[in-house]
Amino acid sequence: MNQTFKKETFRDDYTFSNSPEAVKRFPFPFHEDEYMYSVNIEPHVKTAVGSITEFTFDIDEHYVAECEDKAITLANDPQRYLCLPHMMDAQWDTLELMMESMSNDYPEQFNLTKEGDNWTWVNKPLGITTKFVFGDESSLPMEPLEYIGRQVQGDWVMLDQRDNNLFADGAIVTSQADWSLAIDVGMSWQEWHGPVPIANEIGVFDRALKYLLNLQLGSPVRRLNWTMTINPRLDTSPENYPIWGPDRLSVTPENVGDKVHLRVELQTLFRLPRSNGMLFGVRGYLISMNELVTNPLWAKRLHRVLKGLHPELAEYKGLSYKDITIDWLSKYDDGTSSE
Ligand code: HEM
Repeated sequence: MNQTFKKETFRDDYTFSNSPEAVKRFPFPFHEDEYMYSVNIEPHVKTAVGSITEFTFDIDEHYVAECEDKAITLANDPQRYLCLPHMMDAQWDTLELMMESMSNDYPEQFNLTKEGDNWTWVNKPLGITTKFVFGDESSLPMEPLEYIGRQVQGDWVMLDQRDNNLFADGAIVTSQADWSLAIDVGMSWQEWHGPVPIANEIGVFDRALKYLLNLQLGSPVRRLNWTMTINPRLDTSPENYPIWGPDRLSVTPENVGDKVHLRVELQTLFRLPRSNGMLFGVRGYLISMNELVTNPLWAKRLHRVLKGLHPELAEYKGLSYKDITIDWLSKYDDGTSSE
């Protein structure tokens, strides 16, 4: 991997942008001109070279800048990392999975050496070298999930499996689409999904949970979810709503292309070996409308998806600027097939 990492920001002056290569590999989530929630879960297998699922964890041009943004969010609000005491085995499981995958998949950037339980982790892009004893918390500068979670793009939730249910009992969450870790920690599958409209009524949550409870070690799965956001901001948490919420009112027909972003989440789920828990990853990808319309098929299709979006989904996702965006996209839709 010959990766250069961009210097860019996800707050204040918002200098984030995608290179043409990053636009090309963007996980556009719509397979047809309409969208409704579904159990869109598939095996998390490796795909084409250069694609976002070439490797187990995707490290891209935004890696260093995203990790820096994560550190700022955690410094401002330490409650973005929370973990219940019984999840320590799951924390070590997570650290092991991430270090082994990243060092195998990106050997020029990450290195893991083991002498028994004495491990050395080298993260070249972030300039980190740590020697520690696997299984001994006191040998790391912070708890294992926080330590490794700061070095992997995206949000990471650890689930405990008990009573035929999943509980969100530990997580590092700095780029969530308007849900609160401090509120959700310790909640069950049904509780944290409570605010989502329609999905429960059409049986999506019951079927997805049943599937996940049988997740096997070594056979991770994935799905895509999407929303939209104003400015390329990672930290759209309820805690900071006063900072980013009013931006929704700043969208005008002139600035849609710059301000409105499609935000796609690659969600992955892994069974963890020692704890029999689960790791849930939410890896976000942002693309501005100006970048998105460089692909004429995406422009057409997003126009149609937004036009037909169920009002309850639009409301839940906070798309108060949907109509301005549809008008702006309409010039890219000539009515011909979007296949
Ligand atoms: C086990 C790991 C998972 C966790 C921790 C999780 C967590 C969450 C959270 C916190 C929300 C936001 C709820 C709010 O507004 O407060 C959410 C939304 C949602 N989740 Fe999950 N989820 C998981 C897996 C899944 C799976 C496997 C599905 C598959 C159907 C799913 C479907 C959804 C849907 C449809 C939404 C609404 C998203 C939107 O419209 O943007 N979740 N999830």
